[in-house]
Amino acid sequence: MPTTHIPVITIDGPTASGKGTVAHKVADRLKFHYLDSGALYRLTALMAIRRDTPLSDEHALAKIAEHLPVHFDQGEIFLSHENVTQAIRAEAVGNMASKIAAFPTVRQALFALQLNFRKMPGLVADGRDMGTVIFPNAKLKVYLTASVAARAQRRYKQLIDKGFSASMEDLLLDLQARDDRDTNRAIAPLVPAEGAHILDTSNMTADEALEEVLKWYAAVK
Ligand code: DC
Repeated sequence: MPTTHIPVITIDGPTASGKGTVAHKVADRLKFHYLDSGALYRLTALMAIRRDTPLSDEHALAKIAEHLPVHFDQGEIFLSHENVTQAIRAEAVGNMASKIAAFPTVRQALFALQLNFRKMPGLVADGRDMGTVIFPNAKLKVYLTASVAARAQRRYKQLIDKGFSASMEDLLLDLQARDDRDTNRAIAPLVPAEGAHILDTSNMTADEALEEVLKWYAAVK
């Protein structure tokens, strides 16, 4: 059964742009399903780290992605029966995720899994290539961004709130390296999709961003 009639809102953007928070709020408000596509790359990275799979072994990494024993339940993320919601947020996992996300076979392995999230009454999908590659026919495409300084500040707060230790200096360097990798990779690089609404949230609260997205959606639905 084709699912192309099911509305999708894509929210893409760089790391720590606030897209996760905003996407979550939009999904809550519209009672839509929610796909955190970055979590799939992070889960693959977490399994690879635990198995000591080297970055040089693209085939083994793609196999991990293809057989992810992932399970989402009420906002919590499970690998087999282990709750890894917090573990996948560690910086080391995010960095590894950004590296393995450059492999075409890993991206291909996660493709169908992402399409499966398109269910009635609708989906809000956040990531890097939601509007460009995975859901090119989305009803509404948003590209959320913010200055590096604002994003580093947010990531710092996020990590500290979750009980991780963090250094602002390291975070700034990490963010820049991740931006560089995510935007310059050959396959599915981070770019605003054609027709995407661009929203700079450097000086905006998540609720202000939410209202803006809802306004855009009301205009196209
Ligand atoms: O959004 P995030 O920080 O959780 O994503 C982690 C990494 O996964 C990110 O650095 C790049 C990769 N990613 C991707 O390549 N494509 C996506 N749709 C989502 C994430």
